[in-house]
Amino acid sequence: RKWFAVIGDPIEQSMSPKMHNSWFIENEIDATYIPIHVSKADLKEAVMSLKRLGCSGWNVTVPHKTAIIPFLDHIDPSAKIMNAVNTVEVLSDGTLRGSNTDGIGFVRSLEEAFPGQLDNKKVLIIGAGGAARGIAFALQESNYGPIAFTNRTIEKALELSSELLGSTAMSIESAEASLQEYGLIIQTTSVGMNFSQQGVPLNPENLAEGSIVADIIYNPLETELLTKSLERNALTMNGTGMFVHQGAFAFEKWHGIQPNTEKMIEKITITLG
Ligand code: ATR
Repeated sequence: RKWFAVIGDPIEQSMSPKMHNSWFIENEIDATYIPIHVSKADLKEAVMSLKRLGCSGWNVTVPHKTAIIPFLDHIDPSAKIMNAVNTVEVLSDGTLRGSNTDGIGFVRSLEEAFPGQLDNKKVLIIGAGGAARGIAFALQESNYGPIAFTNRTIEKALELSSELLGSTAMSIESAEASLQEYGLIIQTTSVGMNFSQQGVPLNPENLAEGSIVADIIYNPLETELLTKSLERNALTMNGTGMFVHQGAFAFEKWHGIQPNTEKMIEKITITLG
């Protein structure tokens, strides 16, 4: 019986095991998917052990997405450019291939939520960490943009924009002042997550009616930024779709089957609702 895993620290909160195990049942695949707690110091040993114990593939979550790269044999171009891996495949010759499905997972969920409504929109990405990076490169690959970054630490936004052709960077204050220019605003920071980081990363007062605000957070389902954006008649999306689609792209790599994402998004929304 094949087995799969997700490694991270912490790992208890991960909904990936429930999602993949439920897709196994739906698709009559004889396999299981388990969460494994791996601390930073144990990462190298964990990768060798997963391989030795016959794991067929695994997901990688915080804080290992970049650190795992030296322990893999092949890195997909998209994972290389993002400098982060979230999916590992064990190939038939036993070598390990790392890829990244976070960015394309986000873009797919956005296209699904707003079909035909994304072209020619100026994009503002709030945040300049790993998530912002993955999303920005995936958006550019699908020809969306132009992209502007804003971040609490402006230096990180400037650095990221220097790597992404045609993008710009600005302070939070400038972004707040020019918010009405952006048709698509993507929130990638941890502000608003799990009720532990209350507040908004940016004041959405100047938001134009009808603009799209996407938050990658899905717990809670509606962050304060989304609540305030809805009050300004924006169209909103939470991070459930991104989470499900990154998992679906990994599932497809491992099993060659596209799982049902729509039903899964509904299921998770009910669980977290
Ligand atoms: P991830 O992989 O989830 O993107 P990360 O690479 O650690 O995680 O990036 C975290 C992002 O959230 C950064 O943009 C960070 O801003 P800074 O670069 O200024 O640190 C942002 N962030 C985290 N906590 C924040 C807070 N309390 N207020 C504003 N931004 C915050």
